[in-house]
Parts: sequence; C-alpha cells; structure tokens
Amino acid sequence: MSKLSRAIAGCALAAAFASPVLAADQMALAQESGCTACHSVDRKIVGPAFKDVAAKYRGDKGAEARLIKKVEQGGSGVWGQIPMPPNTQVKPEDVKKLVEWVLSLK
Ligand code: HEC
Repeated sequence: MSKLSRAIAGCALAAAFASPVLAADQMALAQESGCTACHSVDRKIVGPAFKDVAAKYRGDKGAEARLIKKVEQGGSGVWGQIPMPPNTQVKPEDVKKLVEWVLSLK
C-alpha cells in the first residue's frame, strides 16, 4: 500500500467515525434553517423525503451544484406542482452543507 492510499484509507475511516456526530449537526442545521417544516429524512411532508432526494440523484455528479441553486432560489416541477420557496435566509455555506448531507443519506 502506498503512503497516499494509506492516507486516503485513514481519512475514510475518520469520516466513518465522525459521521454520526455530523449527521446530528446537519439535522440541527436543517431545523434551524427551516427545512424541516417541509422536509423529513424519511417521509414526504410538503417536500420530498430527503432520502428520496438522495436516491433520485445518486451517481449524478452535477446534482450538488444544481440542488444548491434550487434550495437558494426555490422552484417546482420535479416532485410535483407544490413549489419550494426561496431559502434566502440561509447562509450559502449552510445551504452547501445541507445539500451535501441530503445527498449523502441512504
Ligand atoms: C415551504 C416548504 C419548504 C421549505 C421550507 C423547504 N423546502 Fe425543499 N422542497 C419543497 C418542495 C415542495 C419541494 C419539491 C419541489 C419540486 O417539485 O421541484 C422541495 C424540494 C427540495 C429538494 C429537491 C429539489 C429537486 O429539484 O429535486 C431539496 C434538495 C430540498 N428541497 C432541500 C431543502 C432544504 C435544504 C431546505 C432548507 C434550507 C428546504 N428544502 C426548505 C418545500 C420546501
């Protein structure tokens, strides 16, 4: 094993251990950001379940950038006719964190 691949394996391991804490943080961020008024992780409320969003875009490399824009600007037509309003009160770095978290759900 090269030094580099060992370093990568080490990072993956650290990320695996850190993720439960991170997930709780992201859930809190989703609550503070108002997302959970319309979304839950595993069932549809007004908007789609975040797990369904993750499944829909699994393997889609452009999804993160598109969804960041969609969350910021709002929009409709992907999951139904109910629009998501713009979430302009949420800081751009928080939107990025939230979208990354949503896409990482299984
Ligand atoms: C007022 C209700 C509401 C709030 C608040 C809301 N959403 Fe949504 N969200 C929706 C609806 C409705 C849709 C489906 C839109 C569509 O069909 O295109 C959606 C769709 C999405 C999608 C999938 C978009 C797509 O094109 O597939 C993501 C990701 C998402 N929301 C994340 C968030 C995040 C993160 C927040 C908090 C910052 C948030 N939403 C706040 C209602 C909401």
